[in-house]
Amino acid sequence: MPKSIAPLPGLAIALSLFFTSCAQSPTSTSETASSQADIPLGAALAQTSNVALLGQEQVAGVKIAEQYFNTKGGVGGRPIQIVFQDTSGDEAGAINAFQTLINQDRVVGIIGPTLSQQAFGANPIADRAGVPVLGPSNTAKGIPQIGEFIARVSAPITVVAPNALKAALKINPKLKRVAVFYAQNDAYSKSETEIFQQTVKDAKLDLVTVQKFQTTDTDFQTQATNAINLKPDLVIISGLAADGGNLVRQLRELGYQGLIIGGNGLNTSNIFPVCQADCDGILIAQAYSPDHPGAVNVAFRQAFQQQFKSDPPQFSAQAFAAVQVFVEALQAVDQQTKIAQIPLPELRQKLNAQLLKGSYDTPLGKISFTPEGEIVQTSFYVAQIKMDAGGEKGKFVFLK
Ligand code: ALA
Repeated sequence: MPKSIAPLPGLAIALSLFFTSCAQSPTSTSETASSQADIPLGAALAQTSNVALLGQEQVAGVKIAEQYFNTKGGVGGRPIQIVFQDTSGDEAGAINAFQTLINQDRVVGIIGPTLSQQAFGANPIADRAGVPVLGPSNTAKGIPQIGEFIARVSAPITVVAPNALKAALKINPKLKRVAVFYAQNDAYSKSETEIFQQTVKDAKLDLVTVQKFQTTDTDFQTQATNAINLKPDLVIISGLAADGGNLVRQLRELGYQGLIIGGNGLNTSNIFPVCQADCDGILIAQAYSPDHPGAVNVAFRQAFQQQFKSDPPQFSAQAFAAVQVFVEALQAVDQQTKIAQIPLPELRQKLNAQLLKGSYDTPLGKISFTPEGEIVQTSFYVAQIKMDAGGEKGKFVFLK
């Protein structure tokens, strides 16, 4: 039986209410991380704007992890406390959130931001301050290379994206003409389209057109018409959830009937309300499968299902894994020297060194890091969206 992921319920109405309740009160500036009762770990995620379509799933994963690891005794008996700061959807929001987490909330490390575009703006600030950052969803080329304090649990586009093209060729071995679309104002989209375009050429397919748009666009008639006129039998889109979903819908409304591959920014059931029945059939490569048999994944999946009545999506699983890496690295540091005795700057340094050394049995499978902070992960998948006829409900069906 294929396993499926349904959308998080009631997104449109619930989003603003849900996220105002997520904000934690900042910790007192006179305390240090090491002297507080709970260990503050930052989460700089998009809780507002269109990027919250992705960030919402990350917040869910982080919260489940916080509860899971605290129930298991936290770090040497001390709970971790996730301190959320909303990055919204742009670089300025991410920079603000990072500065607050570093200087005011005095966190030991940061999970975030949601977009690579934001990471290129905010991560250098954490790197200069000596605060370890784990990117939970940043897939663009060059993220770990930002600095020695920057790592990610989100596998880069180079290892994830080409799987989607292989799956498309399996479904339609005769496909030949490929139209590529990408958001030119977004770092991950620019990075991903390069890989997709190269993969198309390597597979000896015809790249018939490359169409550009902005993540803020809502009208794609011109680009969609240009592409359709060239009679593609595969369309590949690198963009984010709202723009990507709208582009899919407009391509279908204008009569495009071939296969569609969505990039990493479309990898959320939160696109279902955007493209509705027209989301049906979109192929998206995955760095997580709810069927992964490891014990942590079984527990994570159960906790997620209990709360959301659906299987966890990739962004939630990656966010959970980021918390797990921080917690297990903190535990390892704590076993050498009680972290309550380590001054915060030194603790951040030790934590960074430790997390890069460890290996972790996460919902994503066993992961570790290169010395540069790139994730080492082995299992990848492809899922296809199936919508019901009315276009209200959908699921990600994992392909064999
Ligand atoms: N994977 C997307 C990015 O890196 C969300 O921006």
